[in-house]
Amino acid sequence: SDRSLLILPGDGIGPEVMDEVQRVIAWFGDKRGLGFAVSEDLVGGAAYDAHGTPLTDATMARAQEVDAVLLGAVGGPKYDALDFSVKPERGLLRLRKEMDLFANLRPAQCFDALADFSSLKREVVAGLDIMIVRELTSGVYFGEPRGVFEEGGQRVGLNTQRYTEAEIARVARAAFELARRRGNRVCSMEKANVMESGVLWREVVTEVHAADYADVELSHMYADAGAMQLTRWPKQFDVIVTDNLFGDLLSDLAAMLTGSLGMLPSASLGAPMANGRPKALYEPVHGSAPDIAGQGKANPCACILSFAMALRYSFDAGEEATRLEQAVERVLAKGIRTGDLLNVEGATPATTREMGDAVIAELEAS
Ligand code: NAI
Ligand code: MG
Repeated sequence: SDRSLLILPGDGIGPEVMDEVQRVIAWFGDKRGLGFAVSEDLVGGAAYDAHGTPLTDATMARAQEVDAVLLGAVGGPKYDALDFSVKPERGLLRLRKEMDLFANLRPAQCFDALADFSSLKREVVAGLDIMIVRELTSGVYFGEPRGVFEEGGQRVGLNTQRYTEAEIARVARAAFELARRRGNRVCSMEKANVMESGVLWREVVTEVHAADYADVELSHMYADAGAMQLTRWPKQFDVIVTDNLFGDLLSDLAAMLTGSLGMLPSASLGAPMANGRPKALYEPVHGSAPDIAGQGKANPCACILSFAMALRYSFDAGEEATRLEQAVERVLAKGIRTGDLLNVEGATPATTREMGDAVIAELEAS
């Protein structure tokens, strides 16, 4: 197969939800002729237990070679006391950094069947489908100088928000390209009213738009106003592009418009490789959920939907991605749900495996 996939199940519920994804992947190979060369490896605490490091050099090298990496989740109480240098999340951070995954795609999609799980009114969220593109490798989380130091007899905490025009331009391009495949609208969010980096952000996004993406509708919004608009009427947006810090906040906010953590996929994309496919890491937004790990309670949908994103963005199989998303949607509409999606007294939750079974049954019927 010319489609290679590295699967890193990780810790906690990671391996449980990934088992269901593996079955979905196999289904696409068997029934749709979409074969994948799948390899599997360790990351996070599982890699630390086996090798004393949360990501070996060999795994890192493999991640650089494949078309896409699919990761479950890392971390858990067992590893909380470890030195920072070998903490499970360091494995994930190393992947993101060395693959230079600068565009973090966080869809906020609300399946009709789950609209009652939102903290907002049903009509505000039902059918919502927006995409937040967060710059992931620069900005205030990485800028130098930084530190906590003494100054004038007191402590000062310092971080630096710094963006180069190349960093802004590449994430803007990613957002415009995405918009062309969706609703053709981009809203760029910053605080150009009070931040120099915001002034440059707005300038560069405007320039990239004028030069190459004039067919896409572009608007600008201050990020704080954007937060208000996201909760007031989120359906006004299609693609939102924003920096690392604002993207962190706005994507978490948007995620909760849609209900459960167990439903949220994500993708992190980098520059195109020799074969034209972008460097890519797909993962659910949720963590390793130690409170339910090993009990068959985890919702595999976030991880399954992350694979759907891989189909669309790494393997040019948008129709198959939609087929998978619709299968998930029909499962939910039938009321087959893990505990995180049940608010009915006395209802029996489906197990992780039963959810996987139901998704595959819907794929079969599609
Ligand atoms: P979490 O996302 O693991 O869990 C938060 C809550 O949501 C828990 O009650 C959990 O049971 C529930 N939940 C999460 N995913 C679910 C699913 N698929 N189905 C049903 N319920 C689900 O976040 P938490 O508890 O803050 O972190 C637990 C561990 O995960 C920590 O070690 C943390 O560092 C790590 N973590 C890892 C991430 C990653 O690998 N990308 C992201 C976030 C946290
Ligand atoms: Mg966050």
